[in-house]
Amino acid sequence: MENAKNIELINQIDKNNIPEHVAIIMDGNGRWAKKRFLPRSAGHHEGMKRVIEIVETAEKLDIKYLSLYAFSTENWKRPQEEIDNLMKLLIQYIKTELDRIHKNNVKIQTMGDISKLPRASREEVERAIKTTKDNDKMILNIGLNYGGRDEIIWGIKNILEDIKMGNIKEEEIDENLFSDYLYTKGLPDPDLLIRPSGELRLSNFMLYQIAYTEFWFSDILWPDFKEEDFYRAIIDYQKRNRRFGGI
Ligand code: IPE
Ligand code: IPE
Ligand code: MG
Repeated sequence: MENAKNIELINQIDKNNIPEHVAIIMDGNGRWAKKRFLPRSAGHHEGMKRVIEIVETAEKLDIKYLSLYAFSTENWKRPQEEIDNLMKLLIQYIKTELDRIHKNNVKIQTMGDISKLPRASREEVERAIKTTKDNDKMILNIGLNYGGRDEIIWGIKNILEDIKMGNIKEEEIDENLFSDYLYTKGLPDPDLLIRPSGELRLSNFMLYQIAYTEFWFSDILWPDFKEEDFYRAIIDYQKRNRRFGGI
């Protein structure tokens, strides 16, 4: 059942101008927990519940691509206990949600070097990718051990390798070809980037892809990010005038 507030907001959304690709830096779990004198793990657990809801909301809105930043190449700097906790939550998320996601025809894919994840988490992620590989309602693209700089360097190395092998020629390198060497191969650039938690930075997220993305920042901490906040971000997005350098 939709509540009245949500219905009012949904009615303000132009169904013909839904952002095709939405990217979210899910941030603020630790601060949410701290405010409640809870361990950081409680914030991550609550944050995972928001992931479940926001994925469902994205499906409802007919968003075609949803990219979620779950773990960065820099997050390995955190205490081992917190890393372990996040990796376990990833498994828990897949175990609880995979059936529903698959039934709803959503395809799970990842960006980042998942070979560096602990084995149990990696295997669960691989199972999710394999199970949903033929789905086409929405792509849920999860950033795991993802960093924008790491992605660009990885792409350059692969291009050099392909030149060496004779698969491509140097003259063929252009923006289109380069995009195919990023983790986001086949995905359009994000139209809208959402970052809650009050930080006004990218933290190494999708550096190449967001050249013309619209940004939506908010002080809301991720565990407080509700369906209605997602609607508000989209309503604001629809008021933007995207010029892409033109007039
Ligand atoms: C985001 O919340 C979750 C991850 C980075 C995995 P944080 O854990 O960064 O929460 P804050 O920023 O410390 O509040
Ligand atoms: C960005 O949040 C990474 C993810 C949400 C996975 P961080 O909490 O790691 O970013 P910084 O350290 O505040 O820039
Ligand atoms: Mg943070």
